[in-house]
Amino acid sequence: QKVRVKVPASTANLGPGFDSLGMALNLYAWIDMAISDHTSIHLIGDQMNGIPTDKSNLIYKVAQMVFDKAGVSHPELEISMYSEIPLTRGLGSSASAIVGALAGANALIGNRFTTYELFQIASKLEKHPDNVGASLYGGIIVAFWDDVQAESIRIEPDPNLEVLVAIPAFQLSTEKARGIMPQQVSMKDAVFNLSHSSLLVAALSTGNLGMIRFAMKDRLHQPYRASLIPGMQLLLDESEHHGALGVALSGAGPTMLALVDARSKQKEELQAFLQGTLANEGIQAQMLWLK
Ligand code: HSE
Repeated sequence: QKVRVKVPASTANLGPGFDSLGMALNLYAWIDMAISDHTSIHLIGDQMNGIPTDKSNLIYKVAQMVFDKAGVSHPELEISMYSEIPLTRGLGSSASAIVGALAGANALIGNRFTTYELFQIASKLEKHPDNVGASLYGGIIVAFWDDVQAESIRIEPDPNLEVLVAIPAFQLSTEKARGIMPQQVSMKDAVFNLSHSSLLVAALSTGNLGMIRFAMKDRLHQPYRASLIPGMQLLLDESEHHGALGVALSGAGPTMLALVDARSKQKEELQAFLQGTLANEGIQAQMLWLK
């Protein structure tokens, strides 16, 4: 028996919702999994170079965790993965691998675990629930992980909400982008983020797209991470004047994300502004319109 899982990419934080907001994007990874008499792992596509194809592979290890938890003795696995999701760019590629591995292994044992249980395992593995929550449930996810449990509520994205991503040609590890953040923040910045994140969730759940431009502001992570992505601060400051509802660093970056009203007449202008601003810094970026 072979199972095939299709998992969406995701963008985390959406600006102020550091480690707590995530949104699935229509860019996908496919994972095939079957119990076999010996383990073999096939990664399809150039961008997979360097990813292990032995038993240290993330998908293999996560799948074995599911079998362990279910009391099934370690089966050998045949795994294939094809992914459209660029790696290490802030689009949740590792979360999609984790979610795909969990869902695939769970399907092989007759779905013994609920989606909620898989969400607990995934959040524990990632240590933040934003990307895995979005990849697992789809849509927009508001979530916490407190080192013990994860809870979330899904919001159906407004049909007029479109996403433009500018994916720089360079990779940026989440570890590096988390390492640059301070251990302490001021009460003022905490309140700033709390109020903006709450307003953003309210705007997204009520379809008040006009409020996004006020809400999508952050003082917890983006000011620190801006030094890692040339051009980022200018994009944060100016994109609204070129038709974005709001703009943010996608996850830990380096991808930049703009939320756009599908009815906007400034889409081409916005795309040119994002691409041009990064190009002025010597950064080639792939531009994708997503939902
Ligand atoms: N919320 C996480 C971060 C997402 O910003 O570091 C990265 O995977």
